[in-house]
Amino acid sequence: MLRIRKESLKPGMRLAKPIFTEEDQLLIHKGEVLKGPFIDRMKNYEVKEVYIDWHHKYPLEIMEGIIQDTRNQVKEQFKKSFHRLAEKENTEFKKIENLVEEILSEILDNKKLLIDLTEVRSTDNYTFEHSVNVCILAMILGKAIGYSKKNLRKIGLGALLHDIGKVGVDEEILKKSQRLTDGEYGEIKRHTTKGYELVKSLDLLCEDSRRIIRDHHEWVNGKGYPKGLRGKEIHPFARIVAICDQFDALSTDRVYRKAWSFSDVVEYLIAYQGEIFDSNFVQAFLQSFEIYLEGRLIELSSGKSAVVRKFNRSFHTRPMIQIIQKEAKGIIEREFLDLTKIHNEKIIKVYH
Ligand SMILES: [Fe+2]
Ligand SMILES: [Fe+2]
Repeated sequence: MLRIRKESLKPGMRLAKPIFTEEDQLLIHKGEVLKGPFIDRMKNYEVKEVYIDWHHKYPLEIMEGIIQDTRNQVKEQFKKSFHRLAEKENTEFKKIENLVEEILSEILDNKKLLIDLTEVRSTDNYTFEHSVNVCILAMILGKAIGYSKKNLRKIGLGALLHDIGKVGVDEEILKKSQRLTDGEYGEIKRHTTKGYELVKSLDLLCEDSRRIIRDHHEWVNGKGYPKGLRGKEIHPFARIVAICDQFDALSTDRVYRKAWSFSDVVEYLIAYQGEIFDSNFVQAFLQSFEIYLEGRLIELSSGKSAVVRKFNRSFHTRPMIQIIQKEAKGIIEREFLDLTKIHNEKIIKVYH
């Protein structure tokens, strides 16, 4: 089920809940497929949000739905609050809390366990955008692991503010495209402790959430920073955010490198589970997010185009695919390939 505003309704959507007027009069039943004239008529009624069936197939721009809407609102508000918060204006914190609450209710509302990642994260790598992506990813992962609503709220708040310490790092260093000097790298590393001290001095967040800010760059093998904590010494919320943070950072273009493909990022998480990342949480992450949704168009390393036909739960980066060929008379569907059996071919791009 997906909650969308009535302005986003399109013909062909199927209702997941009936629609009532303000006077409680039934307008349309659950399960009905919307038609153009009805959508036009809806403009005359006081209906703000409508629930549509998530499993029904829609064009992707429609599927962005409320998560996109919420994310934009969150981003705008967060942008305003981020610096003011750092300037010790506590009133802004209430607004941030409300944003997390908003995202959380979206996530808890959504009964679908597998979530399409391209829908959740966006492609612009601005600190705010990154923070919002990490917040959403971390709460979804936390939900999959089984945390209570109270804990998901703590995870969301800490994740949204995980890089708040960067307001104290020189912007020149953050944006530098050449190799960083040891001194500059040390300066960047300090965003963890600076952020932790900042929220503590403002008396913001509970200690569980603060630990996300301090520990999200710790590695389970003890080689991370700032303290070199190992395994369970690292707060579980910080272990969750570490995965989401890396996932979002690597799959986004940065000034010093291009974005990695989803399959490379997933293979990286798998390769470093037990060293950088908590293995159990990596497994939960892979199971919560459906990266190669069936029907999605992809590009292979050989340059061929294909469509994902069957998602592979054991080998997430190697689904069953079908090669397609574009010709003047249309798209021709070719052979099926099981990517677990073909080692010289991998997915390099997913179109959304
Ligand atoms: Fe960070
Ligand atoms: Fe980050």
